[in-house]
Amino acid sequence: MQFTLNGKPFDFDGDPDTPLLWVIRDAAALTGTKYGCGIGACGACTVHLEGEATRSCVLPVSAVAGRSITTIEGLSPDISHPVQQAWIKKDVPQCGYCQSGMVMAVAALLEQHPHPTDAQIDQAVTNLCRCATYHRIREAVHVAANS
Ligand code: FES
Ligand code: FES
Repeated sequence: MQFTLNGKPFDFDGDPDTPLLWVIRDAAALTGTKYGCGIGACGACTVHLEGEATRSCVLPVSAVAGRSITTIEGLSPDISHPVQQAWIKKDVPQCGYCQSGMVMAVAALLEQHPHPTDAQIDQAVTNLCRCATYHRIREAVHVAANS
């Protein structure tokens, strides 16, 4: 089966029930997308499916046949995406493990709501951060929205 991965065609001939996360990490060797819980709860594995934030650990790769996936590696060629720049400006990450998923969730949110309220941020970005960087994340979302 084939799908588009970061703008390029990608072929996968393994088990169609394989979670997309493992196709991305093991078959495509793109390790920016992280494994946290494997049950759709933490958001570390968030990628974009046709532009929508999607938890790739609970999505069989068969569900994305013919569709377009963007990972953190494909968000921008040079870390120039407004969310990435805001993350740098506000020095958001601590250990960093959750941050790829956070950035992807926020990037998708800003496509739908270019100037989200705090309530919209809380509703859309349900990713978990064990380092509790939530306060800086919210500040950085507003920085990105105003950039
Ligand atoms: S690893 Fe996918 S939601 Fe936690
Ligand atoms: S920065 Fe460490 S888990 Fe979020």
